[in-house]
Amino acid sequence: MALYALGDLHLSFQADKPMDAFGKVWKHHERKIEKYVNRIVRPEDTLVLTGDHSWGRKLSECREDLDFIERLPGRKILLRGNHDMFWDAKKTRRLNEEYDGRLFFLQNNFAAYQDYALVGTKGYTFEGPFYLDFQGRIFGWDEEREEQAKKLVAREMERLQESFHQAEEAGYRKFVMFLHYPPTNVLEGTSPFTRIAEEYGVEAVVYSHCHGEQRFGDSIRGTYRGIRYFLVSGDYLNFHPEQILA
Ligand SMILES: [Fe+2]
Ligand SMILES: [Fe+2]
Repeated sequence: MALYALGDLHLSFQADKPMDAFGKVWKHHERKIEKYVNRIVRPEDTLVLTGDHSWGRKLSECREDLDFIERLPGRKILLRGNHDMFWDAKKTRRLNEEYDGRLFFLQNNFAAYQDYALVGTKGYTFEGPFYLDFQGRIFGWDEEREEQAKKLVAREMERLQESFHQAEEAGYRKFVMFLHYPPTNVLEGTSPFTRIAEEYGVEAVVYSHCHGEQRFGDSIRGTYRGIRYFLVSGDYLNFHPEQILA
């Protein structure tokens, strides 16, 4: 039994959105997902998919993408990404009822894995625009967007706290924390997300959203202040699920 994670499948079985435009790694990426997930994940394993599942704008445009995910081996747990327009956070319960026993939608709730609680939310990070001088040093940023970002971070923190709270109420003391957005942006060493991870002493923080060589190093990877951080964007892993726990 093992816990795996993979993010940003960006499926488009019902939408006209060829991903090849984003680089060679995305060519027939759905075939790679199928091949590598089937090779690595066993039926008794758990696979957390960390958001940006589908290009469909509403649920009816995502059915085939969700069916594809359902056919992958193991228990599948889905997190919201910024592109998952089909998933209104407030209607998560309805999704969970509809897909009961097939897919689990992680939002304002938690999932159990052995004696761990899997908690999570989409998260948010302020990604600029940052203004650079001729030497590439940052001398300013878009303050309006920064204000907006602070509100989004606060709302996402509330949702994450709710997830932790429910897990704690149910008696869990060990946690793995999932985000779609990276926990910090390129300028930050810490954030509300890293602080809550430390407060609860989580085993690992798992996130995706960062695409392309230039963005893979945007946030924390490896062990930092005693916590393991994993970037699991599909293109970063060439669509091989990453093992988080044995
Ligand atoms: Fe993405
Ligand atoms: Fe994303």
